[in-house]
Amino acid sequence: MDRKEFLKTCGLACVGGLGISALLQSCATSQYFAGNELTGSHLKVLQTEFTLNKKGQPVNRSYVLVKSEKLNFPIYLYKLSETEYSALWMECTHQGAELSAHGDYLTCPSHGSEFDRLGNVTQGPAQNNLRKFKTSIENQFILIHLS
Ligand code: FES
Repeated sequence: MDRKEFLKTCGLACVGGLGISALLQSCATSQYFAGNELTGSHLKVLQTEFTLNKKGQPVNRSYVLVKSEKLNFPIYLYKLSETEYSALWMECTHQGAELSAHGDYLTCPSHGSEFDRLGNVTQGPAQNNLRKFKTSIENQFILIHLS
């Protein structure tokens, strides 16, 4: 490979790398983090966080991610019905990596474990289900009980 060919190959590799990086960033920002309030031992999330206004039309979200600076991992909050929610700690039970949410399932970027919306392992190497939190409804809020 001559110098010109080498530079051309490197340039294409850089452009490809930038493209992949931009794609990954857009995936990361497509996840919606709900506003929340940490009060004592529970997080409060407005039920309206599950409704998105798209061009004047209400569109439902199936899940939101709940983050707090006091927590090491986000919580995946999935709407099962108007009164039932699944709240899962997004730490992989294999070696502790942060999981990624994809609609009604979660995956681990480290070694490929997968979990369903209820936190059950559907693919290893993880062997244990995810940590779950109880939820309840209070007025217009969903309460995630952390203890
Ligand atoms: S840390 Fe998640 S599969 Fe290994």
